[in-house]
Amino acid sequence: MACDRQDPLALAMQQAVCGGGKRMRPVFVLLVHEVLGRTGRQPVDVACAVEMIHAASLVLDDLPCMDDAAIRRGRPTLHRVWGEATAILAAFALLARAGEVLRSGLVAAGVAPAHRDALTARLAQVVETLCRGQLLDLGLVEQSCDLDRLEAVHAQKTGALFAFAAELGAACAGVWGEEREALLAYARNLGLAFQVKDDLLDVTASQQQTGKAQGRDAALGRTTFVSVFGVEGAQALCDELIATARDAIAPLGGAVALLTEFADYVRTRAA
Ligand code: IPE
Ligand code: IPE
Ligand code: MG
Ligand code: MG
Ligand code: MG
Repeated sequence: MACDRQDPLALAMQQAVCGGGKRMRPVFVLLVHEVLGRTGRQPVDVACAVEMIHAASLVLDDLPCMDDAAIRRGRPTLHRVWGEATAILAAFALLARAGEVLRSGLVAAGVAPAHRDALTARLAQVVETLCRGQLLDLGLVEQSCDLDRLEAVHAQKTGALFAFAAELGAACAGVWGEEREALLAYARNLGLAFQVKDDLLDVTASQQQTGKAQGRDAALGRTTFVSVFGVEGAQALCDELIATARDAIAPLGGAVALLTEFADYVRTRAA
């Protein structure tokens, strides 16, 4: 993202998006597009729009009124560098810009106008869902939370954006119907597994590995998959969700091998 060195908003937006990270969600958009047999131009701008939404969500998540995080991606968090006002405004600006980048990316990917309109409307719904999930997560402090409730919160907070990534990858490949439904089922389970693993790494991985302070969830008294099920229980749940994700795409055959590998990475990642 090119930006004016005198414009703190643009610089803060740039730090949020370009300051590292695993790029799971944009890679997922591109993988779905590829496994569906599309070898032409990749929908890179569409993938970038998804990462911009994710980056904005992390900036907000790190704020003192939410997780009060000091370190993200191995660097001081956005509000620690630029102040809270600039961080909040950079997140808003990124969400607005994501809509514009998605729209032009869908045009470049050759998606038909009616589908483009529907997917742009979906972006607004997904952002609202993510916000609702985040608010529910912030309120999860009781230890007696059951699996259904935890999964319902994290399906919104984390799963919805993974599902949207799959939806976009399939749309850019011109794929609808059963194949798309299978990919959405995969994405929902993968997204949940991703959050379970994130909760596990909060306990088991160092700041050097994750680029985030270790033990933040416990310090905040949060109810997580680990606080409810323990480390072994949470890893077993992660394995189960990954197995369900893999089963969902099994009918699509050998072409989806890349997604099988992607799921295994989510299950075994150490950072
Ligand atoms: C962290 O996401 C937030 C969660 C939904 C668990 P990532 O672990 O994908 O963060 P980056 O993008 O790699 O920094
Ligand atoms: C935040 O979840 C996920 C969002 C969608 C904002 P976490 O609070 O667990 O993410 P990390 O651990 O700070 O990356
Ligand atoms: Mg959080
Ligand atoms: Mg957090
Ligand atoms: Mg976390």
